[in-house]
Amino acid sequence: MTSALVNKQFRLAARPVGMPKNSDWSVTTEAVRDIVDGEIVVQSIYLSLDPAMRGWMNEGKSYIRPVAIDEVMRAGGVGKVIASKSSRFAVGDYVSGGTGVQNYWVGAADDKTAAFYKVDPKLAPLPKYLNALGMPGMTAYFGLLDVGMPKAGETVVVSGAAGAVGQTVGQVAKQKGCRVVGIAGGKDKCDFVVNELGFDACIDYKTGSVKDGLKQHCPNGVDIYFDNVGGEILDTVLTRINMKARIIICGAISQYNNTTPVKGPANYLSLLVNRARMEGIVVFDYAARYPEAAAEMGKWMAQGKFQTREDIVQGLENFPDTLLMLFEGKNFGKLILQVGQE
Ligand SMILES: NC(=O)c1ccc[n+]([C@@H]2O[C@H](COP(=O)([O-])OP(=O)(O)OC[C@H]3O[C@@H](n4cnc5c(N)ncnc54)[C@H](OP(=O)(O)O)[C@@H]3O)[C@@H](O)[C@H]2O)c1
Repeated sequence: MTSALVNKQFRLAARPVGMPKNSDWSVTTEAVRDIVDGEIVVQSIYLSLDPAMRGWMNEGKSYIRPVAIDEVMRAGGVGKVIASKSSRFAVGDYVSGGTGVQNYWVGAADDKTAAFYKVDPKLAPLPKYLNALGMPGMTAYFGLLDVGMPKAGETVVVSGAAGAVGQTVGQVAKQKGCRVVGIAGGKDKCDFVVNELGFDACIDYKTGSVKDGLKQHCPNGVDIYFDNVGGEILDTVLTRINMKARIIICGAISQYNNTTPVKGPANYLSLLVNRARMEGIVVFDYAARYPEAAAEMGKWMAQGKFQTREDIVQGLENFPDTLLMLFEGKNFGKLILQVGQE
């Protein structure tokens, strides 16, 4: 019987204008209903807070449908199966999937949207399944390798370097023999990616000029730019690219809360001059190949050649303020909200 359990949920109350406000959310509670054959109850433990959540709150066509008004906010998460009438999952299994911003997920074990799969806390700590071994890691791995196609000796620049995607991009590029230059906000983040993650250099865009940093740290130009931020930084990197450069458009966090139109790159003719290309990536296109990436990065982790940092904040009630940390650069590593105990 799960009906004694109370499920607290964050629902989208209004479509934000600019930065999300507390009034854009409503908090509801409901009893966890009893399940029928084929169903499970998952208790959320860790929720993945992602920049993409801001886009899901907007109306309009995108790679995924918007979250509807009054719907529980979409979020990836890792949790524990606490009730099961399905042969796919047993009580006590740990799973990753679309838990939503709530304490409990209830529904069919084979629900296509939630897409739960088992994870093993003995192989890696559970938060890693929301970082390198989860969606951001898959984005970094396939974006860099499939879209960027790095060759040993090339120079790779990645923005958002200390964040979830950026950390993995830089380390995968190092494994492939590239020179790696990060761009991040602040000395602590830059020191971390160079001293802990092994990047060759990092440009602090908050205190220095990105253009000067690129001149200094990319003496042979830029072969691959993995763009997590868009805006002015993308425009500046475009002035330093090499012949046949590849620019991976992963995200544009600097633009997500704009109340004015997205700032596109003024320097795009550099693509023409350099016969270069710019290509987008959506991680979900690679779902069938996630095990391939997890196996390779898991092996590097076990060999001590690869590490990731998570920034874990406590408490479901802190969801609205914690989400904003992403847009203020306050997260240091993959941002995760812990809402239950392992
Ligand atoms: N295409 C896909 O399938 C896919 C999948 C996952 C993620 N993404 C995208 O990848 C990017 C990184 O996501 P993540 O989860 O790894 O986030 P993250 O890097 O862990 O966190 C966001 C970071 O962005 C930086 N930032 C915030 N505002 C900025 C601004 N105005 N200018 C420059 N940097 C800014 C901040 O770092 P600093 O302190 O360094 O400024 C902040 O810590 C996002 O754009 C996201 O939408 C795309």
